[in-house]
Amino acid sequence: MEPIRFQKNEAAAQAIQTYYGRRPYVFTRSFGCQQSVNDGEKITGVLVDLGFGVCEEEEQADLIVFNTCAVREHAEHRVFGNIGALKTLKEKNPHLLIAVCGCMTQQESVVEKLKKSYPYVDIVFGTNGIDLLPGLILEKLTDRKRVLPKPVERRDIVEEIPIRRDSSYRAFLPIMYGCDNFCSYCIVPYVRGRERSRKSADILAEFCQLVDAGYKDITLLGQNVNSYGKGLDEEIDFSRLLQMLDQIPGDHRIRFMTSHPKDATYQLVDTIAQSQHISHHFHLPVQSGSNEILQKMNRKYTVESYLDLIHYAKERVPDMTYSSDIIVGFPGETEEDFRRTEALVREVEYMQLFTFIYSKRGGTVAATLPDDTPHKEKADRIARLIAIQDEIVDKLTQKMLGTTVKVLVEGPGRKEGVFTGRLDNNMVVEFEGDAPEGQFAQILLTSAKGAVLKGNLIK
Ligand code: 5AD
Ligand code: SF4
Repeated sequence: MEPIRFQKNEAAAQAIQTYYGRRPYVFTRSFGCQQSVNDGEKITGVLVDLGFGVCEEEEQADLIVFNTCAVREHAEHRVFGNIGALKTLKEKNPHLLIAVCGCMTQQESVVEKLKKSYPYVDIVFGTNGIDLLPGLILEKLTDRKRVLPKPVERRDIVEEIPIRRDSSYRAFLPIMYGCDNFCSYCIVPYVRGRERSRKSADILAEFCQLVDAGYKDITLLGQNVNSYGKGLDEEIDFSRLLQMLDQIPGDHRIRFMTSHPKDATYQLVDTIAQSQHISHHFHLPVQSGSNEILQKMNRKYTVESYLDLIHYAKERVPDMTYSSDIIVGFPGETEEDFRRTEALVREVEYMQLFTFIYSKRGGTVAATLPDDTPHKEKADRIARLIAIQDEIVDKLTQKMLGTTVKVLVEGPGRKEGVFTGRLDNNMVVEFEGDAPEGQFAQILLTSAKGAVLKGNLIK
């Protein structure tokens, strides 16, 4: 299917001018993953294109956009709390418009709740409707009624949406949208729809623009980057796409997330090993170290096949670091299952581990499974896992001391005279000395505290 090319809605721009009678300001707040952050940057971009300025405080805004996440229940509660707090702003400023979008609003129950209990929310739109926002604003301003359509699944890919990036040196670049995996705990396939890949020419064009504009750290995004290319007319897969992007000259690094272990290939590891720009870091979420739980999660790989790939990568790319997501307390997880997760974590030695207590999501298969592990037990398990992880990070960072690393400088830190930067695996490095933000610097590592490394700038 050919992508749609974004076009500015001039009638909406005109209606906004008339409604506010001056330059209005937008405040966009994004919750959730990098994909959501990137959507937020596009939402702001579209609004700037319509004549909005950008403000950093809700109180100064004429339009507030909450771009939400649905992946865990407590995140949803938090968003509802935050929307509730907007009521007083609306009372103070009747011209204020409030829009809610993102993964939460792809669920009909959420739109119903907003309709009924949050009368000051004016506009709702979904994850794949950013280009439609100007039309919704126009509808709101013309009819003076709330615009809260039922969520729909839209498969179009829309290219050339204006974007206002949060950073001038780190950028997200989506290569595909949606997810077809239906892991039994996960809401994403229901809220982001089926997998769709962008054409490689569109990705390459955006990539080159970023490199030309001086971006140093470009993260390719997708719910499952390893299935990139499925359904496209061209003969391409993720490794081939990486090889293509790796040819672009310049002083930048390429990262990608997220990989699904069932689709991550040995060839991908080879591609990383042979590349100029791809960071030696692999985020490969395992979720559990028990084959029974993996099966109940519908993950479609085994602990053995996962470890085989990790061992291959460790051999092929000796300085690679690893990170993972783990869900603790999935329905039916026994102490024995959990011990297998502990063993796996000890074996892989991840540099970063993102641990979550299982959160029941309505509409998913796991929500129908009996879950009789008490919350306290789950909390104990996650604490045990975090303690193991802390030990591993200490061990790994101690080994790095005395080596020189390349960091992307993020600017002055909280302490006077101390700057921060990031390694290509996203670890934070603090160092003394002044180095230009958004440029690479060489740092000699001298000490480590938890996951934060410290060192000195090498001139
Ligand atoms: N409960 C807890 N964690 C979840 N994740 C996704 N769905 C759930 C859920 N229902 C975690 C997974 C995923 C990460 C982004 O969030 O570990 O990899
Ligand atoms: Fe991202 Fe998933 Fe949250 Fe949507 S539900 S914002 S895809 S983490």
